[in-house]
Amino acid sequence: MPYPEIRPRRLRRNAAVRRLVSETRVAPAELVVPMFVKEGLAEPRAVASLPGVLQHSRDSLRKAAVEAVQAGVGGIMLFGVPAERDETGSGGLDPAGILNVAIRDVIAEVGDATVVMSDLCLDEFTSHGHCGLLTPDGGVDNDATLAAYAQMAVAQADAGVHVVGPSGMMDGQVGVVRKALDAAGRQDVSVLAYAAKYASAFFGPFRDAVESALEGDRRAYQQDPANLRESLREVELDVAEGADMVMVKPALPYLDVVSAVRAAVDVPVAAYQVSGEYAMVEAAAANGWIDRERTMLETLTSIRRAGAQIILTYWAVEAAQMLRERY
Ligand code: PBG
Repeated sequence: MPYPEIRPRRLRRNAAVRRLVSETRVAPAELVVPMFVKEGLAEPRAVASLPGVLQHSRDSLRKAAVEAVQAGVGGIMLFGVPAERDETGSGGLDPAGILNVAIRDVIAEVGDATVVMSDLCLDEFTSHGHCGLLTPDGGVDNDATLAAYAQMAVAQADAGVHVVGPSGMMDGQVGVVRKALDAAGRQDVSVLAYAAKYASAFFGPFRDAVESALEGDRRAYQQDPANLRESLREVELDVAEGADMVMVKPALPYLDVVSAVRAAVDVPVAAYQVSGEYAMVEAAAANGWIDRERTMLETLTSIRRAGAQIILTYWAVEAAQMLRERY
């Protein structure tokens, strides 16, 4: 070896020194757990393509929310699965709709002990499964959809949610939602914008979880996986429209996007480790092909390292429990 001998391995020598020099830690408070609640369920039900994830009943959701708080997670993102759907997704706007009822339940149970968030999108509530209202020729009508999102935001705020997450990728959605919340006197409710959201095959198992009726795809509103600069434009627009936080989704296949977004804006950046990312690891682990826990933590660390400060992940509760012991 040439002198001086530079030996990076000195800092990998044992667990104590590795812990000392670790550049990236994942804290339970940075993890957000997505939860599904289905209208009319008496007992929670497993989602076949998302092992370990449940469609909750109202009752089991309340219990799961308490467990999540005890584990120390930073937030809960709620998704509703209605018993009936219609053309306009009216169940999403209805104060008695399952998502709004579930927000009330969770807030009644955990209050301000964690951050309660709700998905703000019509796809779970429409009979056609698209994220918005349809035009006569079957396209998604951007501006008519915005009016529905505005009402939905106010209904969610009235139910007590802390953060709304507009995820439909309609142009102008963040501005319209912010304006509607402000007009309703809900300046205290934050907007976590699903700013850079790709038309991704990794959403597959989620569609099972919400029993999506979608035929076709969302390529006319979600982004082309080939594009990075487009995400910077989306993020810039959302911040200008009043987004308090921005999200990149999916996470692991888009770490370059997470990193570029982190460099471009000063608001908190979130990344959503989506259903397909989780299902791939679970399936490989179930086959004994991969070490489940190591893989889980490696993916979360990588997403954090790329620049996401907040991570939405179906492993949030389990990972929070593991991480609490680690640091
Ligand atoms: C839209 C929404 C979707 C996801 C989160 N919000 C589905 C979609 O856009 O098709 C996907 C999340 C996941 O795959 O885990 N309501």
